[in-house]
Amino acid sequence: MEKVVIIGGRGNGTVIASAIEDCKLQGKDFEFLGFLNDNEVEINGYPVVGKIRNNDWIALPKEVKFIYAMSNIKQASERHNLLKSLNIPDDRFTNIIHPSAVVSTKSKLGIGVVLMPYVLISPDVVLGNHTQMYAQSFIGHDSITEEMVFVGNNASVGGRVTLKNGSHIGSNSSVLERLTVGEYSIIGLGSVVLKDVKPGEVVVGNPGKVIKTIH
Ligand SMILES: CC(C)(COP(=O)(O)OP(=O)(O)OC[C@H]1O[C@@H](n2cnc3c(N)ncnc32)[C@H](O)[C@@H]1OP(=O)(O)O)[C@@H](O)C(=O)NCCC(=O)NCCS
Repeated sequence: MEKVVIIGGRGNGTVIASAIEDCKLQGKDFEFLGFLNDNEVEINGYPVVGKIRNNDWIALPKEVKFIYAMSNIKQASERHNLLKSLNIPDDRFTNIIHPSAVVSTKSKLGIGVVLMPYVLISPDVVLGNHTQMYAQSFIGHDSITEEMVFVGNNASVGGRVTLKNGSHIGSNSSVLERLTVGEYSIIGLGSVVLKDVKPGEVVVGNPGKVIKTIH
């Protein structure tokens, strides 16, 4: 039995809670205990078991595992720094793999990884800690994600691509094979990325063009 608490709330967190419920329906031995959240006492009928900034995770029993769900496209690095500041040991995080996801046995997953419905992970892919891939997204062979990478629904990432720390791949976008997408860069939804993306660049359109640099 895996007891799980989500660090986050409505939106990202409730979507992941739904995936946990799907896992349970398919017979996976999960018990979803609720959320760590600073602003609410109950979320979608689930309890809030403590606050994030109070370090309330420390009071939870050792067998409780966590999932990070505070993603916010425009405050990505701040949210990631908040998670790091909690100093939660790696072995207290779990992975949530939706039963419909197809994950190559030749791939490697870090901790805190979330794979949503119909995600496809190709052979020899390495997914870094807290990488989250949303419904129907794809990542090609020999690609690497570093930490805290967000891949939106229906995004298609080619083979031998590197997605650096905190990069955000927008929904319905495509990334050409062999490219590097820089730290905390953002690929806008529906974009087609044909060149390497530098850290913090925001790229939109087809062909993808840089519209600004953030962070
Ligand atoms: C790229 C993005 C972050 C830009 O947001 P923003 O910084 O608020 O930028 P703005 O909305 O002010 O847009 C700036 C310009 O880029 C254009 N633009 C924004 N996103 C675009 C996109 N995805 N494709 C093409 N053009 C886009 C806007 O039309 C605007 O053009 P204009 O100056 O000629 O009017 C946002 O549009 C986006 O695509 N987010 C991804 C959302 C996503 O994938 N969510 C996943 C949830 S699962």
